[in-house]
Amino acid sequence: MQEKIVILDFGSQTTQLIGRRVRELNIYSEIIPYNKYPFGREAEDGIIGVILSGSPLSVYDKDAYRVDIAKINEAVPVLGICYGAQLMSYSNGGSVEPAPSREYGRARLTYIDHACPLFKDIAEGAQVWMSHGDTITALPEGWRCVASTPEVKFAAFEANPRMWGVQFHPEVFHSECGMQLLENFTVGICGASRSWSAESFIETTVAELKAQLGDDRVILGLSGGVDSSVAAVLLNRAIGSNLTCIFVDHGMLRKDEFAEVLRDYECLGLNVRGIDASDKFFADLAGVTDPERKRKIIGADFIEVFDREASKITDARWLAQGTIYPDCIESLSITGTVIKSHHNVGGLPERMNLRLCEPLRLLFKDEVRAVGRALGMPEHLISRHPFPGPGLAVRILGEVTREKVAVLQEADHIFIKGLRDSGLYNQVWQAGVILLPVQSVGVMGDERTYERAVALRAVTSTDAMTADWAHLPYEFLAKVSNEIINKVRGVNRVCYDISSKPPATIEWE
Ligand code: XMP
Repeated sequence: MQEKIVILDFGSQTTQLIGRRVRELNIYSEIIPYNKYPFGREAEDGIIGVILSGSPLSVYDKDAYRVDIAKINEAVPVLGICYGAQLMSYSNGGSVEPAPSREYGRARLTYIDHACPLFKDIAEGAQVWMSHGDTITALPEGWRCVASTPEVKFAAFEANPRMWGVQFHPEVFHSECGMQLLENFTVGICGASRSWSAESFIETTVAELKAQLGDDRVILGLSGGVDSSVAAVLLNRAIGSNLTCIFVDHGMLRKDEFAEVLRDYECLGLNVRGIDASDKFFADLAGVTDPERKRKIIGADFIEVFDREASKITDARWLAQGTIYPDCIESLSITGTVIKSHHNVGGLPERMNLRLCEPLRLLFKDEVRAVGRALGMPEHLISRHPFPGPGLAVRILGEVTREKVAVLQEADHIFIKGLRDSGLYNQVWQAGVILLPVQSVGVMGDERTYERAVALRAVTSTDAMTADWAHLPYEFLAKVSNEIINKVRGVNRVCYDISSKPPATIEWE
């Protein structure tokens, strides 16, 4: 059984971050809604410790989320963070009250009890990050304060038998001693062996997939993106030619992308069918300008084409997908609200009576990349930028035609190649060019021109939920602009998009 640390989620925005940090220590972690804890099954499930997350609620609220911490603690050590710490204290007779002023931002630990194993190798003066509206004003009897800041007396506490609480956020980058503290808890206190790695994930997952799938046939839709590609290579390792991959070309991929990626897939030994369905997509998009209609048409066409191809594999039992952890963490499932629905291929599994196989569902994006590397996949497939499913169609404002796609592919190629050649590609989250529905006057040689304008878009981000425009060097932008105007026929003007998300989005449509 895979040993794991469970993070019990009370709805905090940093719950995912706690999970990530623990995995950075090479320890497997799983995030579970606070009301889905498997009481009494710790040994069976490999649970060696539990971390209680923060929450937007107050522990004294009538509808506060509660859990039987003492019962968990009978089996394994528990660390409470912020709300988690306050809940521990409050439910054992301590007091929690609104803080006189919201305690927010950087603070320094001015007192540390060095006998406490949670603070091993952490010195006074370490910076921590506070973010709470409530504060513990009295600890339960017999509980010991083990760290303080000038403003927060009970910054951390210890209680028998194996309970600790911190009112600051060790998972946040600004808590300098955060990783040490998490290591002290998971390794020092819980005894984690730190054996979780891309290689160990591959070994366990391949064995599980073999057992789960046996001799069944599996279909997988490839998009050219990292997640579906890594899922395919992993499945290929487990079941070989029983996996059939379908890669649909809607005609709106980047320049030469379909042929190049298809070749990569074949070199990786995948059993892949490349389907050129571009005529259908362009025909159905003719005359359509509304962004949402464009997306709907592309989505429906994709399902139709995929469905037709998948139906040819008559004995398939499973549909595999590259769904990853952030797609499925139901951090709000505690209130019954699903924040993101899975990217299922439009109800296909039910229609075709297929079961769903999602081998990456417990990995974060950077872990998917690490698994891809450990599987020996080429770096250009692993580190490629995200690209929207509807492709260049959402970067051509107005009607999509083959001619416009060809113009945009050329401009996009110059921009992306320029980023790669200048060593800037891996410094941005994502980049592309947008073809604007605007013509403007220019002059080339002695000739007046009246041609299209394009916008360059490059952003930095960690998860695409928020993004900042990338501050690319002026010299680089000047070079790309020149090259586009000189080489791409039909374009005489280049702009740079300097909007952040929010309030703008990364894509223009
Ligand atoms: P926005 O434009 O919403 O984009 O800021 C956030 C991220 O999602 C990508 N994106 C999509 N990806 N299908 C996808 O697979 C889509 O329809 C789609 N639309 C946007 C976008 O490129 C960015 O990474």
